[in-house]
Amino acid sequence: MSSCSAVVVAAAAVLLLCLASTAGAAAVVVDAATHVKAAAYPDWAHHHWVWLDHGGNGQADCLQLAKDYMAHNITVGAVDIDSTWEVGFNNFEFNTDKFPNASAMVEEFHKMGVRVIFWITNMIDTDSPNYQDGYNKGYYVRNVLGKQGTVKWWHGHGSMLDYTNPEAVAWWHKQMDNVLDIGIDGWKCDGTDPYILEFVTPHGYNGSIAWHEYSDMYYGDFFDYTRKYDRLPACAHVLMA
Ligand SMILES: *[C@@H]1O[C@H](CO)[C@@H](O)[C@H](O)[C@H]1NC(C)=O
Ligand SMILES: *[C@@H]1O[C@H](CO)[C@@H](O)[C@H](O)[C@H]1NC(C)=O
Ligand SMILES: *[C@@H]1O[C@H](CO)[C@@H](O)[C@H](O)[C@H]1NC(C)=O
Repeated sequence: MSSCSAVVVAAAAVLLLCLASTAGAAAVVVDAATHVKAAAYPDWAHHHWVWLDHGGNGQADCLQLAKDYMAHNITVGAVDIDSTWEVGFNNFEFNTDKFPNASAMVEEFHKMGVRVIFWITNMIDTDSPNYQDGYNKGYYVRNVLGKQGTVKWWHGHGSMLDYTNPEAVAWWHKQMDNVLDIGIDGWKCDGTDPYILEFVTPHGYNGSIAWHEYSDMYYGDFFDYTRKYDRLPACAHVLMA
């Protein structure tokens, strides 16, 4: 192990303490009548979730990270594959320079008993290969000028998917399937929804869209679509937002 990853492990040990108490509290849900119910999330969601910034150098680094924790007897519930695993923000196509075989990677994590979640947002950047297609079809949220707006966020300039347009959502789901097909366990949906405020009067296919409505649609759709995904065994998917 490099000294660099040793620092990561030390930081994780601190996280471990915080998570240990949260996990204890979350393991059972007690309702008003003090009946004990099953946990709202699968057991693995309460173990440590680990990640490398931008996935380090990719697939081999991510696998090694989990192996290093486990070699130190630190349980790993899930690995989050951080941003830059895709060709574009966001087009759900693996950047094969970093992740030569994402399917094999997920399989290997699963054999280790580790779940895999992928970083994602609702943004489609102007330089992403799928941008123009979505733009031509009018699938992005419109701004105060009535145009499909763009905002500058921390990974470029992008437009926001119009979740009120069923065709836009179907277009998005079809791209998502590329990643769901390899058996991932969930998403880390990063917090890009507030950018909608920059459009002043954001609106879409179905009229005006309030920020909270947009947030519900963005996170809700990732959750619902992933849970409904029928090509996977009926395992409990998890969304981190
Ligand atoms: C991990 O646990 C095993 C079994 O209890 C023990 O033999 C080993 O020394 C532990 N490894 C570390 C790095 O603590
Ligand atoms: C990826 O790995 C799997 C084995 O897990 C293998 O079946 C498949 O052919 C590999 N794909 C590529 C493109 O190498
Ligand atoms: C469109 O707007 C109507 C009325 O405001 C609402 O009932 C409906 O759920 C909306 N549909 C979508 C896809 O947002």
